Amino acid sequence: MPKIFIKTYGCQMNERDSEQVAQMLMARGFEMTTQESEADVILLNTCSVRDMAEQKALGKMQILAHQHRGKGTILGFMGCMAQSRGAELVKGIGVDLVAGTQKFHRVADYVEELLAHKRSQSMDDARFSIVDVEPEAGSQEAIRNHTVSPHQGTAFVSIMQGCNMRCTFCIVPQTRGSERSRAIAEVVREVEDLVAQGVKEVTLLGQIVNLYGRHEFPTAEGKTPFVQLLEAVHAVEGLQRLRFTSPHPIGYKADLIEAFGRLPKLAEHVHLPLQSGSDRILKAMHRGYTAQKYLELVRQMREVQPDLAITTDIIVGYPGETREDYEATRRLAEEVRFDNAFIFRYSKRKDTPAAEMPGQVDEEVMEERNRDLLEVTNAIIKEKLEGLVGRRVEVLCEGPSKNNPQRLTGRTRTNKIVLFEGDSRLIGQVIEVQVTRTSGFCLYGDPL
Ligand code: F3S
Repeated sequence: MPKIFIKTYGCQMNERDSEQVAQMLMARGFEMTTQESEADVILLNTCSVRDMAEQKALGKMQILAHQHRGKGTILGFMGCMAQSRGAELVKGIGVDLVAGTQKFHRVADYVEELLAHKRSQSMDDARFSIVDVEPEAGSQEAIRNHTVSPHQGTAFVSIMQGCNMRCTFCIVPQTRGSERSRAIAEVVREVEDLVAQGVKEVTLLGQIVNLYGRHEFPTAEGKTPFVQLLEAVHAVEGLQRLRFTSPHPIGYKADLIEAFGRLPKLAEHVHLPLQSGSDRILKAMHRGYTAQKYLELVRQMREVQPDLAITTDIIVGYPGETREDYEATRRLAEEVRFDNAFIFRYSKRKDTPAAEMPGQVDEEVMEERNRDLLEVTNAIIKEKLEGLVGRRVEVLCEGPSKNNPQRLTGRTRTNKIVLFEGDSRLIGQVIEVQVTRTSGFCLYGDPL
C-alpha cells in the first residue's frame, strides 16, 4: 500500500486535523511513515497566522518537490495556507493537491483519485491536480475519529470550527470560516469513547472555544452553551482532567468563571490572550475589552480558583504602537505575573485591516520590545517555577521527552511541563512527582 507522510505546522487544531486525515487514510489501508524519503504521498498541514509559518511550509515543499522530482510522489498542502492561497499553490510550486480547512475529510478521496490518475498516465503527462477550498456545511462534524495509541493519556477533541470575531491583525476568520459548533451529545460520545480507550485528559478545541455554540444552542438555566458542554463532558466517568483552548477574554462570562470553582476536573489553567495592555491599541485591534476589564477578569478568576495558572499571547509592534503603548503592556504583564507568555512580533497578514494601517512599526523596534518583554515574562515564569521546587505535583505522564528520550515528560494540572526518569509503564498514568529543580522553563523531579 502507498505510504503517507504528514507534517503539521501551527496550532493544536491543525494537529487534531492531521490526526483525522491520518486516521481516514489508515482506515483505507494506507500506511503512515515518518520518513519523507520513502513516502508516496506527502502532505503539509499549514498555518497562516504569521508570515514565517507560511514561508516555512513553502520552503519545505520546494525542497520536497526538488527531492521527489520524477518519482511520481503526490505532494499536497492542507489547512490554513491552503485555504488562503488556493490554486496559486498549484501554479507556483506545482503541488498535486490543495485542500482547505473545510475539506480534511475529503483528503483520502482526493489522494486515491490522484494515485489512480498517476497509475493510468505516463510520467510526462500534463499534471493533474485537485484544488478544493470551498466552504462545506457540516464539515465541523467531520473531525471526530481518533487513533488512540496504547497508554495514550491525553487527546484533543474539536468542538467547533471558525471564528466570527474580527480582530484586525488576524487571518484566522478567513482561513477557518465562520463559527460552526458540534452538538453536545456528539462531543460527549467522542470523549466517552476516548476515555474507554484509556484517555484521562481531554482538551476541547476551537478557534474561539469559549464562545462555543452561541449561534446554534440556547442558554439554559443561565448557562451558556459552552458551560453546558463543560458540565456534560465533566460528567464522563473516568475522565480526570478537562482543558480547552483557544479562548477569547470576552468569552469568560460569569457562568464560566464560576465553573472553575465547582468542576473539579477542570484543570487550574486558563489561557487569556491579552495581545496588548494599551487601551488605544486594544481598540484598534477590535479586541472588545480594556486593560482594566482584563485585570478585573484575572482578579475574578483568581478569586474563584486561587491556584489558577494564567498564560497569554501578546503582540508587540502592532501598527501605531508607541513607546507608551508598549510600556502599558509591559506594566500589565508585570502586574498579572503570567505563568507563561507567548510573545509575537506583529506580522502583516494579507487582507486584514491592520496590514493597511499607517504607523507600521520598524522591525528593530519590534525586536527590541519582543526581547524586553520576554526578559520580563521569563523572569516571572522562572520565579513561579522556583516556587514549586521541593513540592509534590500531580503529573499526567505523556511519554518520552522529545529532546531526551531517556526521560519521561508530563504536565501538571496547571500545565507546567515536568521531566523525570522512570519506567515506561508510567506513560498514560497520573502520578505524583517530587520537584527537585527547574531550568526556568520546565520542572525536573522524581516520581514518588
Ligand atoms: Fe495557524 Fe490556522 Fe491554527 S492560521 S494558528 S493553523 S487556526
